Formats: sequence, structure tokens, C-alpha cells
Amino acid sequence: MNTYILGIESSCDDTSASILHNGTILSNCIANQEAHKLYGGVVPEVASRAHQANIVPVVDMAIKKAGINKEDISAIAFTRGPGLMGSLIVGVSFAKAFAMSLGVPMVEVNHMKAHVLAHFAEDPKPSFPFLCLTVSGGHTQIVVVKDYLDMEVIGHTIDDAAGEAFDKTGKLLGLDYPAGPLIDKYAKQGKAVYSFTEPRIADLNFSFSGLKTGILYFLKRELKKDPDFITKNLADICASVQDRIVSILMNKLTKAAQQTGIKNIAIAGGVSANSGLRNALQEAGIKNGWTTYVPKFEYCTDNAAMIAVTGYYKFLNKDFIGQEVAPLARMKI
Ligand code: KG4
Ligand code: ZN
Repeated sequence: MNTYILGIESSCDDTSASILHNGTILSNCIANQEAHKLYGGVVPEVASRAHQANIVPVVDMAIKKAGINKEDISAIAFTRGPGLMGSLIVGVSFAKAFAMSLGVPMVEVNHMKAHVLAHFAEDPKPSFPFLCLTVSGGHTQIVVVKDYLDMEVIGHTIDDAAGEAFDKTGKLLGLDYPAGPLIDKYAKQGKAVYSFTEPRIADLNFSFSGLKTGILYFLKRELKKDPDFITKNLADICASVQDRIVSILMNKLTKAAQQTGIKNIAIAGGVSANSGLRNALQEAGIKNGWTTYVPKFEYCTDNAAMIAVTGYYKFLNKDFIGQEVAPLARMKI
């Protein structure tokens, strides 16, 4: 049987559509929204308007790139949440209308589950159970993945997400949004010579707000002594910030691996594109005898391929949702 799943992602500021054929990705098209750079962060109203403009062309492109006709689509998988309400409404409404016109079933997808299942977009695929550190602009979680659709969050952030820590630091440094990829780039040219304290949080939870405040006061102090401190030392500041964020993440991930005894370890989400984190995971893997899984770059940040993959496993379970479905800004794994 030929199963073609159309995946749709619109939870934040990327509009994406993907076609999956029997578990294999045929297309994964993404329209990024440059407009947010002007504001130093995602502006919900701007995001939903851009989704509205992009959704039809992006879906059209995904279908064309896959070399299929819209009539071939077996089901439509869409992000129901969590995310920005105005952004989600565009994807959900489009999915409903398109599913109705094609007469195909719909599958609702949890965006955070999808980040984890991005590992099943291509080989090598992790074997169960595995631990996944999901680090994005809105979330930071350690998830025990028992099966495709059976996941348990054992650690989460109590304030900012890891991506926010990168982006907010970038703002202090005068970098464009999203600053994560820029800090990663500059960090490669510098050394982690400045030390920022690690938060003392019990159990497997994370906190990044103290780090942000620490960086703010550090910069204020140094800028008083030398107004050009940031320009002169940007690479070293970025290397130091990245080093600390990565060590906070890796320390908790290592603790989670010790506590659960799980040795299949994965990272996912936008921050898993970070070269410092990717290197640290490989090193820890060698040291601790882990099998590590790092997604391809295009499956780290928001994309519809991960929505189509998740939708496919739910489709196999005939886990469909009706036209009464509404988006959820908050949605648990
Ligand atoms: O998963 P994602 O695309 O969207 C959300 O669901 O939030 O993650 C976006 C986040 C942003 O905070 C961005 O700065 C961060 O991922 N990011 C990175 C890198 N690439 C993206 N952070 C650090 N280093 C990177 N190379
Ligand atoms: Zn995401």
C-alpha cells in the first residue's frame, strides 16, 4: 500500500510542509520569516500573517517536489501545539480545509514529540528506549522515549529554554534574532576564557534565567571599564556563553543517563544544531559508552518532515482526529 502523509508545521515562525511516502521523506519545504530580525524576537502577529501568506505556496511546493498529485495524499498531519496560538491557527485551519476538500483523515501532532521523532526521518534510527534532550527556543526537556508514541518527560526548564538563553544573550551582545546560530559561529573563533556560574538546581530540571542575569551584570561591569569590550571580545564572550550553556545541558543529560541506565542518547530541537553541543555529546558518548544520535541540521530546527514522521506512526495506529479539533498553545507530551 502506498501511504503519503502531508505534514504541516506552523507553531512558531517557520511555515513548513513535507511529504512522506511509506516512512521515507520525499520533500521538506520551509519558509523562514526574516521579518522578526527587525524586532529581536518572534512577534506573534507578524508570524501569523506570514504563515497566512506562506502556507499555500509552501504546501504546493512540497507536493510538487515530491512528484505526486494532491489526490495521492492519504492523510494530513499537522502541529496542534504547543506554540503561538495565531501561528497554530493558520496551520490547523489549512489542514482542516484541505483534508475536507480531499476527503482524507487528519492526524494531530504534538510539536515536542515530533522534535524527538525527527530521529526517524532518516537512518541511523535510535533503538528504544532512548533518552532525548530536546532543546529549542521554547522548550528544554529530557525525555525517556519508550516507543514511537510513548514518551515521559523526566526533566524540564523551570524558566527560560536553552534557545532563549542563546537568543537573549545575543540581544545583550547586539546580535540579530535568532542569535543561537551566530553565537555558535563566533564561538568557533574564540576561547571560553570568561566563567559564568552554573545554576544549582536539584533533580533533572534546568534553569537559565540566572545565567542571563549573570551575563548582563558581567557585560555592564566590563563595558564601564571599556565601552568597546563587546566588539573587541565578541568571539571569546560567545565561546564562554556557549560553553556554559552546553555544560549545563550535558551535566543534566549525563545525570539522567546514570539514573535511568539508558545508554542510547539523542539530542533534538533547534539548539541541537549547535556545534558545541554536538561535539560535547560525541565526547561524552565515547567516555560513557553511549550510542549517540544527532539529527541532520534540517531536522533540528522546526520542520514539517518531523510532523509527517510522527503523523505516519499515528496513521498506522488509525489515530485520527475530527474537524472539531482546535489548536492548543500549551500541550503536554
Ligand atoms: O526548534 P526551533 O527551530 O524552534 C522552536 O521550536 O523553538 O528552535 C529555535 C531555537 C532558537 O532559539 C535558535 O537560536 C536556536 O534554536 N538555534 C541554535 C542554533 N541553531 C538554532 N542555538 C545554538 N546554536 C545553533 N547552531
Ligand atoms: Zn520546535
